[in-house]
Amino acid sequence: MDVALQKMADCIDANRLLLDIHLVDFITEELWEKNVPTCLQKCLLTTRVEWYKFVNALYNGKEDLKYIDGHDELNNFISNGRANSLDFLNELCNNCYPDDAEDDYKHCMKTKKSIEINNISRIVNKLCKENNLQNIIDVGSGKGYLSSYLALKYNFNVLGIDSQTICSQGAVLRNDKVKKTWKSHEDKIAGTFKCINHSIENTSPLTDLWCEIYPELKSKDFLLVGLHTCGDLSVKMMNLFLQSPDVKVFFNIGCCYNLLEEEFSVDDKNVVANSCFPLSKTLRDRKFYLGRKARMLAQQSLHRLIETKSSMNPTLYYRSLLQVIIRDKFKLNPDVPVGRMGKKCCNFLEYVRKSLPKLNLDNEEISNEEIDSYLIKYQPYQDQMECVFRLRSILAPVVESLIILDRYCYLKHQDVISQVYITKVCSPIHSPRCYAIIAIKTDFT
Ligand SMILES: C[S@@+](CC[C@H](N)C(=O)[O-])C[C@H]1O[C@@H](n2cnc3c(N)ncnc32)[C@H](O)[C@@H]1O
Repeated sequence: MDVALQKMADCIDANRLLLDIHLVDFITEELWEKNVPTCLQKCLLTTRVEWYKFVNALYNGKEDLKYIDGHDELNNFISNGRANSLDFLNELCNNCYPDDAEDDYKHCMKTKKSIEINNISRIVNKLCKENNLQNIIDVGSGKGYLSSYLALKYNFNVLGIDSQTICSQGAVLRNDKVKKTWKSHEDKIAGTFKCINHSIENTSPLTDLWCEIYPELKSKDFLLVGLHTCGDLSVKMMNLFLQSPDVKVFFNIGCCYNLLEEEFSVDDKNVVANSCFPLSKTLRDRKFYLGRKARMLAQQSLHRLIETKSSMNPTLYYRSLLQVIIRDKFKLNPDVPVGRMGKKCCNFLEYVRKSLPKLNLDNEEISNEEIDSYLIKYQPYQDQMECVFRLRSILAPVVESLIILDRYCYLKHQDVISQVYITKVCSPIHSPRCYAIIAIKTDFT
């Protein structure tokens, strides 16, 4: 697995220029010429129509078409991305997840959440049974969907911990409500769910918190679970697992990689010594970094893009074109977000009119006709941006896979650990952040 991690890091290093593209500056900084390899430029523009057919064939094997004729560079680029994604590293990753199924009894959960909770709770139940555990701590429990389900359906004693009062209190209220209807649905409820408001840090005394909330329980051994623990929370959880003798099994699915703090990054403010990335010796020896733009990209779901054959959101193009107007008319080059405008604007004119005041710029400085003329003049850039958007989407799973594998390798080399594995808990179409890291401590049963 250290070799696979090295290869992922090599793939990211080889594509730094693409990963570093800031779409806001795409036109003003001429990033198509500067950051997109010349050998890919032409074939990207000429293969736009067949793109999703081709990528779908490679990722899902659903089509006969496997390679785009005459475009070896592009074929190699996509194949390389695929080869460095967890989806295709079968020796590392158990991709046989339980069938995606919603529970009949959804308890006010959206379909995505219901599938996640149903699949994950089955895996957690199995892990607890195999390791003789009756107690679970759910870190970053949010509205308590998972914790509550584990208590009601599988009869565990569960402690939810969340740093936001609104979540911890809301989770208890929700659980009380669900419990009332559950009683008519199932024969008995033997598990308990309690939730506290606490911010998890690397030194949080988990056992003390547990004993405070469940003083009556004799066994203090537990499984630590975290579903969609944002940014550094996954790593804090991992450190608590390693430090706390009472935590026997660890199950985590991370999310919000953009919030991760990095130790060696050169391009953003999230540089922190002894931070949560990288963790493994392999990447630490390389002083490896991702940077904010790559971490943002890791949030994207290639599988959903393929499934929906999505195009780039036009507001990304609008924002880069607005940057040209700001440069030309206001002699400025601000790197300031204008906020989410997607649903609020149906065309570029409206986008500009709403954005300029947000940047403290005067709408009077430019006429409607002039704004429209920018749209016509810079039209070819939209196609280029679309190509870059698609090309970068191939790298999204590589960045996510590297973050997960870095954590896996770190755990794998700890003496207290007997087993670590990565498992896919549901289809990425239903739930893009679907890879769990599971670790079990040495001989404790
Ligand atoms: C993305 S939500 C996931 C919620 C829930 N696990 C789920 O999947 O429905 C992440 C949750 O972690 C909580 N959180 C973030 N940082 C935390 C910390 N340091 N300690 C405890 N909770 C934290 C947030 O308040 C939020 O409710």
